Amino acid sequence: MVTGGTRGIGRAIAETLAIAGAGVAICGRTQDNVENAVRQITNKSKSKVVGKVADVRSSTEVSGFFEYVDRELGQIDIVVNNAGVGIFKSAAELSVEEWQKTLDTNLSGVFYCSKEALQRIRNRGGYIINISSLAGKNAFAGGAAYNASKFGLNGLSEAIMLDHRNENVKVSYILPGSVATDFSSSSGGEKWKIAPGDIADIVLMLLKTPTRTLISRVEVRPSKPGK
Ligand SMILES: NC(=O)c1ccc[n+]([C@@H]2O[C@H](COP(=O)([O-])OP(=O)(O)OC[C@H]3O[C@@H](n4cnc5c(N)ncnc54)[C@H](OP(=O)(O)O)[C@@H]3O)[C@@H](O)[C@H]2O)c1
Repeated sequence: MVTGGTRGIGRAIAETLAIAGAGVAICGRTQDNVENAVRQITNKSKSKVVGKVADVRSSTEVSGFFEYVDRELGQIDIVVNNAGVGIFKSAAELSVEEWQKTLDTNLSGVFYCSKEALQRIRNRGGYIINISSLAGKNAFAGGAAYNASKFGLNGLSEAIMLDHRNENVKVSYILPGSVATDFSSSSGGEKWKIAPGDIADIVLMLLKTPTRTLISRVEVRPSKPGK
């Protein structure tokens, strides 16, 4: 399962996992985006690819997404918590709604999905991979909500890892720097940025790590950042 698999990093992860042979389920907030992505990923792989409209800010919609995937794919082994939003304003300028949208998506959404995942993979075994950000360790001006959500996500990821690693549950979190997606207005296209597929390859690398070994935190940077 990849949350927010309709475009950007989540889409690249969904494609890479499907091409590697996994059945894949994605979600997003609109029917059109989900349908288009499912069709395009299906065309690139031989795996079963399904999708459902689900807003990770709603624990009810998250439960419905997991039940849908139980029915469609049979067993959930890997959950990639990727869905995220970035609203970049100072605390003074940020509205309460913008604060809540950021925290609800980037942090509470991951909690809801992880809780559903844990009900299924505890003891049987499985993997939760959270897409955090270098903004989860480096605060910056205009990052009040985004920094708070990603700093929080790192703590949540480590606590879940410590609580459940003896129950055959692996938890990793990835902290990318700038990735070439539509995520923020300045994000499009610059050649120096990390490609979404590079993050997808890191997800695959984590999944291929021997059972006895856990890479819990991965920091990823552009090797030659723009000046
Ligand atoms: N791009 C970067 O430079 C960068 C760097 C570090 C970390 N990240 C993190 O990487 C993740 C993906 O970012 P991206 O750059 O790929 O962004 P993106 O291109 O804007 O894609 C975001 C994805 O999340 C989905 N989404 C957003 N809110 C959602 C919600 N409430 N419920 C379900 N799905 C939702 C979107 O789907 P719909 O719009 O179809 O609903 C879309 O599929 C985020 O967590 C972000 O914080 C990005």
